[in-house]
Amino acid sequence: MAKVTYISSSGASQTVDVEDGETVMRGAMENGIDGIIAECGGGLACATCHCYVDDAWADKTGTPTSQDERDMLEMTACEIKSTSRLSCQIDITEALDGLVVHLPEAQY
Ligand code: FES
Repeated sequence: MAKVTYISSSGASQTVDVEDGETVMRGAMENGIDGIIAECGGGLACATCHCYVDDAWADKTGTPTSQDERDMLEMTACEIKSTSRLSCQIDITEALDGLVVHLPEAQY
């Protein structure tokens, strides 16, 4: 299990527990976090689960894990940054306990 903090574009912060084996996206959906839509349910087909990994965590989450993720990141509503990820592609492990992600202003 890992504590994950989601920070909205307005600066509102929510920290929740997310089980190992879930994703950052699932953690948001299961805990009613606004700002992640996840229209495709994690199928790498919507890009509405875009997030910016906090700089302090970027090394641990790593860069996009597949060409499909890189391709879908081209479809995000808000600008892409070097720390942009699709939250459905970030698997939770204990190593990510304390993870902080920032949510974009819009997902459409
Ligand atoms: S939930 Fe659709 S790409 Fe992540």
